[in-house]
Amino acid sequence: MSVTTAFETIDLTPHIGSEVRIERDQLLSGEHAAAIRALLVQRGALVVRGVHLSDEELRTVSRTLGNLRIGGQKRASDGKVLSEGDGGVLKVSLDPEVNPDYARFLPGNFLWHMDGTYEEVPPFATLFMPFRLSREGGDTMFASTYAAFEDLPPAEQKRLEGLRAVHTMQAALFPAMRQCTPEEFAVWSSYPQRSHPLVWQHKSGRKSLVLSTSAAWIEGMHPAESHNLLQDLMRHATQEKYTYRHQWHVGDLAIWDNTGAMHRAMPYEANSVREFHRCTLNGEEPISAAA
Ligand code: OGA
Ligand code: MN
Repeated sequence: MSVTTAFETIDLTPHIGSEVRIERDQLLSGEHAAAIRALLVQRGALVVRGVHLSDEELRTVSRTLGNLRIGGQKRASDGKVLSEGDGGVLKVSLDPEVNPDYARFLPGNFLWHMDGTYEEVPPFATLFMPFRLSREGGDTMFASTYAAFEDLPPAEQKRLEGLRAVHTMQAALFPAMRQCTPEEFAVWSSYPQRSHPLVWQHKSGRKSLVLSTSAAWIEGMHPAESHNLLQDLMRHATQEKYTYRHQWHVGDLAIWDNTGAMHRAMPYEANSVREFHRCTLNGEEPISAAA
């Protein structure tokens, strides 16, 4: 029988973000995976400092926490894998040489967002690890959409629970790339747009705001009123008290709960060597409206 010691946690702000102090081997073994998952959902973002994981180890940790997404994989009709895609580790960089398919979507990361809002079931979580840092800037911020909802007056909560927002790739990217070409805009427009409830009633019973720069308009609302509501909610949800800002060191691992937090990259130089490696865990529940 092996003896396990529980890991230690330190809250980084009252509403969001905890540092997890855990031995590398214990993290990799998955023996505390259930507790780490629970903490992730409770705290929105977790940080493990100085673990220095390889890509393979990042995949291993990811698989202990959920269902690892393999991006860009192509399969034949019989299910046979034709091309391996990213092997589960996506390289996040502005440098097209590092990741030609992804770099052109990257500027949207500078704005507050949830990942994959154009999917029916957005990703559950992301594991994020710096490979090379920018010279300046490049912190990552996280905002709790649970805390932002829970602090609203009950009447406002009730009103929001009856609303839905349409999320589009154009809304996610245009504010960050106003100089885009018509061709770029056309590529964004080719992505499906997706209507989601504005308030997510999670299976756990908790509720969060479903907010992201990708939220283009509120269904059935006058455009000006819709614009104002989305702006007001974004301002509310990203107040400092709901956020945690992580200053990176090589060797860190951060994990965010994409279902209960927004995130954004802080500015860094356009020709930066900044490169992160990320694993995405597939979503496990669709965004359900409150009953
Ligand atoms: C992402 C993202 C933020 C960052 O990879 O989805 O938003 O700090 N990254 O690079
Ligand atoms: Mn993102």
